[in-house]
Amino acid sequence: GKLFGGIHAQHSEYSAIVELIHMASLLHDDVIDKAQLRRGKPSANALWGNTAAVLLGDYLLSRAFTLASQSQLDDAASVLAETIQSLCTGELKQNLLVDEYDITEKEFFQVIEAKTASLFSCSCQLGAMVSGASQEQIRNVKEFGLVFGLAFQIADDLRDIVSDDGQEGKTLGTDLLEGKMTLPVIHWINQDPHQRQDRIHYLSALDDTAKLTEQLRRAGSIDYVLREAKIRVEKAGQLLDSFPPSSSRDALLALTGQIIPDIA
Ligand code: FPP
Ligand code: MG
Repeated sequence: GKLFGGIHAQHSEYSAIVELIHMASLLHDDVIDKAQLRRGKPSANALWGNTAAVLLGDYLLSRAFTLASQSQLDDAASVLAETIQSLCTGELKQNLLVDEYDITEKEFFQVIEAKTASLFSCSCQLGAMVSGASQEQIRNVKEFGLVFGLAFQIADDLRDIVSDDGQEGKTLGTDLLEGKMTLPVIHWINQDPHQRQDRIHYLSALDDTAKLTEQLRRAGSIDYVLREAKIRVEKAGQLLDSFPPSSSRDALLALTGQIIPDIA
């Protein structure tokens, strides 16, 4: 919002709406991923069980729409609804691709665009809409959110393999244990056609992701993924160049610069 002028009360309302949707999606996600830890604390499903966590997610989602229905911003409800549909189709596609070692990078990017980048993009779009920004500005900031969201999820997936729970405050290593193929693994499987079958066999029997990290590193898969994240961080920075210089533009740029994990 600040990119386009001052912050109004409506920006706070839409921040709350987006955050309620975000929290609802994570409540459901932790059930799907059987994660026990979120933001350094036991997840809702760990504390109260899957049923309560799913219903609490549904409740937060309906609260988001109560707030949206009280707002005067044209088209906002449809932007929010389409974003939630996108989150769900991303998760559904991800679920269809579980244990699918033939997954292409294109399919992987479709999943993360739908499940993650769409919410970043929606958040940026709503901030601009509340400010009364031009169609072109809205398009640019939406694209910024999308590219930023892709970089974020690429980095998040890398941390799922190479970081540790205490540092991240959430249960890591769930992706592979649940059969979720992410970019480091997709790259590693395809990096050497002669070893492809052996690597798939290794992954299907894997019970400890820590053992995999060294293999990914040696095959150049970690460097590859860091490069893919950095390309998008740079692109996000270039998209910000279309806005006039301001402290909020600097803040967004600084934010994008923080998501690459320090693991080279
Ligand atoms: C985190 O992914 C999860 C998402 C980005 C989206 C989750 C969406 C749903 C479960 C669909 C339902 C949506 C709503 C709004 C109720 P991750 O598991 O890769 O990230 P993590 O490491 O933070 O767990
Ligand atoms: Mg998860």
